Amino acid sequence: MKKKLFSLLLAASMLTTVLAGCTSGTNGNTPASPAASNDTATVDAGNTDVDTPDTTTVAGTGRIGVAMPTKDLQRWNQDGDNMKRLLEEAGYEVDLQYASNDIATQVSQIENMISSGCQVLVIAAIEGDSLGTVLEQAKENNIPVIAYDRLIMNSDAVTYYATFDNYMVGTKQGQYIEQQLNLANGDGPFNIELITGDPGDNNARFFFGGAMDVLQPYIDNGQLVVKSGQTDFATVATQGWSTENAQNRFDAIISANYADGTQLDAVLASNDSTAMGVTNSLEANYVANHDNWPIITGQDCDIANVKNMIAGKQAMSIFKDTRTLAAKTVEMVDAIMSGSEAPVNDKETYDNGTGIIPSYLCEPVFADINNYEELLIESGYYTADQLK
Ligand code: BGC
Repeated sequence: MKKKLFSLLLAASMLTTVLAGCTSGTNGNTPASPAASNDTATVDAGNTDVDTPDTTTVAGTGRIGVAMPTKDLQRWNQDGDNMKRLLEEAGYEVDLQYASNDIATQVSQIENMISSGCQVLVIAAIEGDSLGTVLEQAKENNIPVIAYDRLIMNSDAVTYYATFDNYMVGTKQGQYIEQQLNLANGDGPFNIELITGDPGDNNARFFFGGAMDVLQPYIDNGQLVVKSGQTDFATVATQGWSTENAQNRFDAIISANYADGTQLDAVLASNDSTAMGVTNSLEANYVANHDNWPIITGQDCDIANVKNMIAGKQAMSIFKDTRTLAAKTVEMVDAIMSGSEAPVNDKETYDNGTGIIPSYLCEPVFADINNYEELLIESGYYTADQLK
């Protein structure tokens, strides 16, 4: 039943990928997308009773709460910094908090935001299902909530969702492996192993689902072989997206299946922190008795992983320009504060259990050794020195 629901979600998501786009595709791996202002549609929010904070709010004044999961991963620091800078430039006071990946800490930070008079909450949840109770308070206080990057599940206090097209992230990872291994032309068999993210993060299911929609047919026809036999979401998930957990799992997979010299050709890793765990494990357990290095995917273009990409240890990473997501979220905040509806481009994919949450999906692109300079350095995301 659950599986069926997810397939439906994914099917809907596939349809909506054509609507996505707030990153222009100048790097050659995606078609150029229309300007954000042209491809957005304003729709009624799903939870209309929390659509605007109250009648007295004014765009560019007031206090906005921004709750981020952790400082441990580079991307969330960038997300938080960008949100704070852009909101302050727009005239808002900002309460930015990081919760060290601890759910209780995030809940109490949100409680404080509510009691200290924040008028809109922007929340990247640690665990999608854990904020229902505190968000009831937000709703009682008429404070709209924007779910940032990760959908907050089973709460009718969520007004909007701003994210990247998470299904497309997965399909791009799957397609990268498909192209690199020439699978569409029948090459193979190749050995592949799979790893995804935290089971409590709704995004992980979309990343994995998108990738497997590309790769599963090749597993079914024998062109791809998963020697460990570990293919279902629960088994390949990684608690807390932790590098250490990823490394431990791969230590076990390699010693059980590849220690005899069997070649591992590819690893589907849903993001950079898990890809790093895989890389660490291969360095410790694999390189000594193999002369190949597998294709490893990732996501976020974290500096350490881009360095690995340059060194040939990670083939690609999905680039999600956090500047774009932050700018889109600030547009949402401004619209809410001025009492109008926020721009969204998807109103069918993301059901959080209480109904569809109107969403803005930005378009992810892939970075690899051939385009990272243009995407990451020339665009000003990183300096060349940061990647040395
Ligand atoms: C984000 C990814 C990130 C992961 C781990 C996901 O929800 O979308 O960009 O790598 O969390 O923090």
